[in-house]
Amino acid sequence: TEEELYTVYKGVYVVSSVHTPESLKYSEEFAFRPDDIIIVTYPKSGTHWMKEIVPLIMSGGDPEPVDTIVNWKRVPWLEMQQTASLKLEQRPSPRLLTTHFQYNMMPPSFFEVKPKVIYVTRNPKDVFTSSFHHHEAASALADPGPQTQFLHKFLDGKVMFGSWFDHVKSWLNAADEEHIMHISYEQMIMDLKDSVGNMAQFLQKPLDHEAIEKIADRCLFKNMKKNNMSNYSTVPRELLDQTKSGFLRKGIAGDWKNLLTPAEAAYFDAVYKDKMKDVKYTFAWD
Ligand code: PPS
Repeated sequence: TEEELYTVYKGVYVVSSVHTPESLKYSEEFAFRPDDIIIVTYPKSGTHWMKEIVPLIMSGGDPEPVDTIVNWKRVPWLEMQQTASLKLEQRPSPRLLTTHFQYNMMPPSFFEVKPKVIYVTRNPKDVFTSSFHHHEAASALADPGPQTQFLHKFLDGKVMFGSWFDHVKSWLNAADEEHIMHISYEQMIMDLKDSVGNMAQFLQKPLDHEAIEKIADRCLFKNMKKNNMSNYSTVPRELLDQTKSGFLRKGIAGDWKNLLTPAEAAYFDAVYKDKMKDVKYTFAWD
């Protein structure tokens, strides 16, 4: 049941089996460095895509890190149980990390040190769609139940890491925004080369045209899906049943059209309009 699978942490659901009291304490005490690079996302917004892109930018296009290091070690999760064993305090700078935390959930040292953040947004209807399928495949997550019921849970924020609306607004309203870059899944779908170039610039890693092309090509969905260090093929089926839904499932913008009924989509849009009425930012899907 949901009560068993999830824990409420700072007001939002986290996944009990991987976000343990110890790992959450670890994240609270984590000492950031000014040159750390953190990928921040609401779940199913393109986290793993970024775990491919950012290491390649930092290696100048050398595929070694993505070919030889499994993604969860390559760019570890701040809040996950497996991370403590990785001895991040011994890693050389710049360290790459990722988190699903909302802004207000970040640990004290984050606000002192202000490391670089790339925050990725994705059309919430596609986030919902990706999440619905993922909940069917991942045993750590509660069965999504009927689609409409899961839709209500999603829109009410009764899902892991809380409300999409709260999450996105928290990071859009973040203080000291010069250390935070915003990019969307849809921008990356539309022009991956341009997106890689912009991220490289933000990370102060100059790349020539050839390197940018090489990185963008490697990170195309069809190519990334073949990388065993990135496609979770090494995870046992009891944990992630990829015959039900692949982790790299479709990798497109607009798949919500294949899932939501017209009535559900209209309801979603109405909630979106209300919750986002105070947001000035223009998203790629607006
Ligand atoms: S998680 O579990 O929250 O960390 O998931 P996350 O990695 O954020 O999101 C998974 C979705 O991202 C898609 N994905 C990609 N799309 C395009 N190109 C590339 N290279 C790529 N890699 C991952 C993945 O397929 C999931 O989206 P859906 O819509 O389910 O396919």
